[in-house]
Amino acid sequence: MNKNSTKPLNLFEYEKLAVECLSQMALDYYASGAWDEVTLRDNRTAFERYKLRPRILVDVSKRNFATQILGQPILMPLLIAPMAFQCLACPEGEIATARAARSSGVGMVLSTLSTKSIEEVADSCHSFDTASDVKPEAYRPALQWFQLYIHKDRGLTRALVERAYTAGYKALCLTVDAPVLGRRERDRHNEFVLPQGLQLANLVNMSGLNIPYQAGESGLFTYFAQQLDPAVTWKDLDWLQSLSPLPLAIKGILRGDDAARAVEYGAKAIVVSNHGGRQLDGAIASLDALAEVVKAVDGRAEILIDGGIRRGTDILKALALGAKAVLVGRPILWGLAVAGEAGVARVIDLLKDELDVAMALSGCASVEDIDNTILTATGNKSTTE
Ligand code: FNR
Ligand code: LAC
Repeated sequence: MNKNSTKPLNLFEYEKLAVECLSQMALDYYASGAWDEVTLRDNRTAFERYKLRPRILVDVSKRNFATQILGQPILMPLLIAPMAFQCLACPEGEIATARAARSSGVGMVLSTLSTKSIEEVADSCHSFDTASDVKPEAYRPALQWFQLYIHKDRGLTRALVERAYTAGYKALCLTVDAPVLGRRERDRHNEFVLPQGLQLANLVNMSGLNIPYQAGESGLFTYFAQQLDPAVTWKDLDWLQSLSPLPLAIKGILRGDDAARAVEYGAKAIVVSNHGGRQLDGAIASLDALAEVVKAVDGRAEILIDGGIRRGTDILKALALGAKAVLVGRPILWGLAVAGEAGVARVIDLLKDELDVAMALSGCASVEDIDNTILTATGNKSTTE
């Protein structure tokens, strides 16, 4: 980047700036993947294995990528992925993220392990509705989901679900790829722990649970081992769905058979994900799992994907392979670290602009025009399997 230019032009430039804004412990926690970070890297290179086949001489003078996810409208097929501890990036943390999502017309999934509470985050968007300085055209319906980690304490888990429902979250997003936490060696070296003043905002009044300090270990790894339930199986999904009327999304699926089973157990949405390469290193790139999942689900649930989405063309490729929307993780944290709410809004804006141009250049005027004929796999995968 030109040193005189303070305005990042893409998400990679945001990442470079964010490195300067974060403590080493926060930066390592945000950036790292498990073990050798092979899956983390592969999530990116997978996008390079698919090439676009643009359609020509299509009228793309009016372009529109608005869509609906589980019946909720959004202005572009993008949700902010659930990510823990956003107050490590800026003091307003998840509240800033939620407000940026709301003003940009995209969705947001709030993590169980957030540093602002379920209610604070929901309220920050309600007050946005009535803020007098916001132009009417900036009012957007909030698509907020709550991401759930099932704790051994089922009473606590039930209370989280009830709070999310009461606060107006539109779906429950159960993360299933973390029965234990993946080994992130940078966090282990840093003895990762939340700094003074930050807490697990959803749990502090219920249980006083927080991330413990443990010598030679990531405190988050210890938290998972102590508090989360590694015995959760399919049969728990009935119990979970009995707790509230919220539709269930299941995040962390990489196989067609698991996706089909999730649908049979009532899931209305599937998030194809390897947790941003932070859990099982060596797992396949989420993009490489997408076609198989789409085929197995066969229209019975909405398919979303995350992992390595950094460009508008990545979103286009994911949609061409059958995803209804994508989730974006780390780049949101880079925006948050650089400029809080405005930084997150700018990151979304960059992706919006890139998707707009990429669609026009591929001959797609709306998301309905995006199908698997606009891409081809090079190397190891075919689009139609
Ligand atoms: C995550 N992710 C995550 N997932 C989840 O279900 N609950 C959580 O609390 C978190 N926390 C979290 C923290 C941080 C710092 C990161 C980077 C990721 C995983 C996240 O939802 C998503 O799957 C990946 O981040 C997507 O990959 P990219 O976009 O970061 O490459
Ligand atoms: C992570 C957990 C919190 O990836 O999901 O750090």
